[in-house]
Amino acid sequence: MLLNKGYLEKEIDPTLDLFEEINHLKKEKNAVILAHYYQDADIQDIADFIGDSLGLAQQAEKTKADIILFAGVHFMAETAKILNPGKKVLIPDLKAGCSLADSCPPDKFAAFKTQHPDHIVLTYINCTADIKALSDVIVTSTNAVQIVESYPKEQKIIFAPDKNLGAYINKVTGRNMLLWDGSCMVHEIFSLEKITKLKHQHPNALLLSHPECEAALLDISDFIGSTTAILNYSKKSDTKEFIIATETGIIHQMQKASPNKTFIPAPPNNTCACNDCPHMKLNTLEKIYIALKYEQPEIFMDNDLIEKAKLPISKMLELSAKFGL
Ligand code: 13P
Ligand code: SF4
Repeated sequence: MLLNKGYLEKEIDPTLDLFEEINHLKKEKNAVILAHYYQDADIQDIADFIGDSLGLAQQAEKTKADIILFAGVHFMAETAKILNPGKKVLIPDLKAGCSLADSCPPDKFAAFKTQHPDHIVLTYINCTADIKALSDVIVTSTNAVQIVESYPKEQKIIFAPDKNLGAYINKVTGRNMLLWDGSCMVHEIFSLEKITKLKHQHPNALLLSHPECEAALLDISDFIGSTTAILNYSKKSDTKEFIIATETGIIHQMQKASPNKTFIPAPPNNTCACNDCPHMKLNTLEKIYIALKYEQPEIFMDNDLIEKAKLPISKMLELSAKFGL
């Protein structure tokens, strides 16, 4: 029986206190909820740990829970499964994918890699397990610069799948990594023109951007970093106003930590709410309740793929620990 077809959500008794029910199920089943900052506010509020991709992978690696409910997208839940082959890893909606991961098909990437046998492969964690299995080291936006710099300058590197993050790392480190032509639909939608206008209207506001954004936007940003880094920056800064160029979910934690500061979501280049990730936002509290109750949908993976994909993830975790991240 495959659950999560939507109709089950409608069958939930509307008088149920989902927070209470989910907390009860977590305790009963020794389950932990790991949530990314791009999740809806109510999901962040019920999570045991909220974080960026590195923080979530680190938590997944050390959890003692029997069940991991991953409130994020598929590649994140897959990473948790790779680190915990013996545990049950659940995702509220199996369709929660990632445009960036989709922009790097394994067959095409394998062919690209074969064309450059003298290069090592550094891959952003936002990719499928098949791509991880073809990689030497995984990186996240938190550790990418340090991991790249841990290799000698003359080392030839392929960086995949995000060309914007890759270009940013090239700029910061003075490297010339060969970039795969992938990108994130959410971080490419921002309007440089509208953001420039917004900066004029709010001259004291600082523009905080994620490195998945395009170079022209990063060039006018006051701070560039992972979700955790921009959250921490907003907490520590004396500035009272910020324009946030990443997925809007992060603003929940920013606002919680600094209730007296103003956070303005950077406007997209059209009128839709395109800086909401449509994949992340597929997850709901109702789906989390159903997933925990029926222990479905579950992430299943081939053991051979798990073993191959685990090597570059473990290398990333070792390097991150060495760098104190
Ligand atoms: P981080 O939270 O690791 O910065 O990643 C952002 C992102 O796009 C996740 O999908
Ligand atoms: Fe993928 Fe972009 Fe959504 Fe992150 S925000 S999950 S990179 S599509």
